Amino acid sequence: MMLLNVQGVSKAFGGLKALQNVSLKVAAGQIVGVIGPNGAGKTTLFGCISGFHRCDSGTVTLAGVRTETLPPHSICRLGMGRTFQIVRPFEGMTVLENVMVGAMVRHPGTAKARDKASEVLQRVGISHLGDRDADGLSVADLRAMEVARALATEPKLLLLDEMLAGLTPVEAAQMHERFMRLRDEGLGLLVIEHSVPTVTALCDQVVVLNFGEVLAVGTASEVLADARVQEAYLGNKHA
Ligand SMILES: Nc1ncnc2c1ncn2[C@@H]1O[C@H](COP(=O)(O)OP(=O)(O)O)[C@@H](O)[C@H]1O
Ligand SMILES: [Mg+2]
Repeated sequence: MMLLNVQGVSKAFGGLKALQNVSLKVAAGQIVGVIGPNGAGKTTLFGCISGFHRCDSGTVTLAGVRTETLPPHSICRLGMGRTFQIVRPFEGMTVLENVMVGAMVRHPGTAKARDKASEVLQRVGISHLGDRDADGLSVADLRAMEVARALATEPKLLLLDEMLAGLTPVEAAQMHERFMRLRDEGLGLLVIEHSVPTVTALCDQVVVLNFGEVLAVGTASEVLADARVQEAYLGNKHA
């Protein structure tokens, strides 16, 4: 089933065309990667898809429902979860409480939200962190909590913005495992990642953005073999 269908999305900030006519699709049980140089528009694309930015034109359809004019909380309720590149935990709250905030989207009662949050911590493999103060977490644990917060909203589709960047190889492998498990459970994942080996190992499809435009779409090996991608993304003019 097609979970996400983005068609012809454009977004400008003043005179800067951050996104121009961007289209992509994510099916259930699929991991789609978005790659591209810094400033290519990746995070802006996530903002447009999740309702944090209003698209200037184009359509976004989540599980058959048009969402491009809806606010973030409505899109979240329809089944889209997202993580942020810079994780900001709620200050003075434990990891469990942070995740409960996500769970409250569907379970307004505290007891139900707590049960849901505990279940998600287990699913992400961080039950042992539940009582810890979220402010004091390592980068890897913060990222895991961020994934848990998004999962607690019970999404069909997850948008993951650079969750592996800066992790040690062991931590990155753990995060990679989590993403594969979620994919196998039938979620659709749209991930922004920089590392070429990561994208190659993780993604069923890759969309390359450059200066706000889609430069190439295909499997990782297809797009990485594309000379224009090598020039834009890898900066290799003689590839
Ligand atoms: N809120 C904003 N206001 C103005 N310009 C922005 C805003 N967000 C992003 N931009 C600009 O849009 C372009 C794309 O940014 P971004 O989507 O963050 O790129 P990426 O995530 O690929 O590095 C950049 O030139 C950036 O400076
Ligand atoms: Mg970004």
